Amino acid sequence: MAKVEFVDVTKTYPDAAQNAVDHVSFSVEAGALCILLGTSGSGKTTLLRMVNRLSDPTSGVIRVDGTPTVDQDPIALRRRIGYVIQQVGLFPHLTVEENVRVVPSILGQSASETSGRVDELLQLVGLEPAEYRKRFQRQLSGGQQQRVGLARALAADPSLLLMDEPFGALDAITRGRLQDELLRIQRETGKTILFVTHDVEEAFKLGSQVVVMDQGHLMQEGAPVDLLARPANAFVGKLVGSANVLRQLEYLPASAACESGGDSSAPRIAAHATLLDALLQLMQSKRRTLTLEDDGRDIGQVTLSGISNVMAAARQTAADQAAEAAEQEPLPARVEGAAPTPDLI
Ligand SMILES: Nc1ncnc2c1ncn2[C@@H]1O[C@H](COP(=O)(O)OP(=O)(O)OP(=O)(O)O)[C@@H](O)[C@H]1O
Ligand SMILES: [Mg+2]
Repeated sequence: MAKVEFVDVTKTYPDAAQNAVDHVSFSVEAGALCILLGTSGSGKTTLLRMVNRLSDPTSGVIRVDGTPTVDQDPIALRRRIGYVIQQVGLFPHLTVEENVRVVPSILGQSASETSGRVDELLQLVGLEPAEYRKRFQRQLSGGQQQRVGLARALAADPSLLLMDEPFGALDAITRGRLQDELLRIQRETGKTILFVTHDVEEAFKLGSQVVVMDQGHLMQEGAPVDLLARPANAFVGKLVGSANVLRQLEYLPASAACESGGDSSAPRIAAHATLLDALLQLMQSKRRTLTLEDDGRDIGQVTLSGISNVMAAARQTAADQAAEAAEQEPLPARVEGAAPTPDLI
């Protein structure tokens, strides 16, 4: 059973010219880290807020653990779901420890019951309890506040976390660190996470599943590599940077450039390594081919020209889609927040 299911979900705000979310359907499996990716105003926050009933769909159904949200008590539902937002929302007059303890104490747990748990959570999010437990929000950096926000969201041990651009206000280095921590926490705890971002790099780094939204519509859903290699339309192609050679190299598997044949003396590379790994190995070994292996079995070879062909094909697909889109009316929506797509080859 999927952890969260959106079935033909539409949200219409009063007096709005168009639906904020328009007939959206997709499922998030338990333990997945699902990214909602899209431009400003595409309906990401609206989708997220309907999961914990901060708002309800105008039509369609959202199921959490198999039960429609509208059949679940909003307060009880929210206690089972962690929620992290960009503005963090720590209580300024409470210490870090008290902030983290808010939800467990609402659930009736005493301070003595939760004190060990608070330390565990602070450690989990990378804050040394002895140093930070008694601090107030004003004594924390933005990144540290966000860590406390994450610890607080995890305090009631929810199986589902909703995160709305949680790292949006942080500098690139702090943001990268928190992304790494989130991946580690997710590996260790197996929680299902629905994570909103408009940052493609963040989506690709974190997501096992990416849902691309534009103007309330779901444009495409799949693994990052699927979006990159097979964008459903020009909008997705442009947003994820299908013509971005560096991103192709970084995310596409070496197996994408597999050709038949092989030289048994050639260096070996695993099929799941990236094209970038293959390219670097070719350069470092100064060899013309690499033998591609999958589970110890030779499945073909990778050459420089093979890699170059994959890149050229991806660029051609992106160019064809852009040309096709240019012929159609209306023109696709503007792409804010999309990474630049340098023309490297
Ligand atoms: N409470 C509301 N009342 C009326 N319209 C709203 C309301 N909340 C959101 N909208 C509209 O719904 C659309 C989707 O908004 P939403 O906040 O879901 O977008 P988003 O993808 O999260 O954007 P951003 O990246 O800027 O946060 C927008 O056009 C927005 O103006
Ligand atoms: Mg939003």
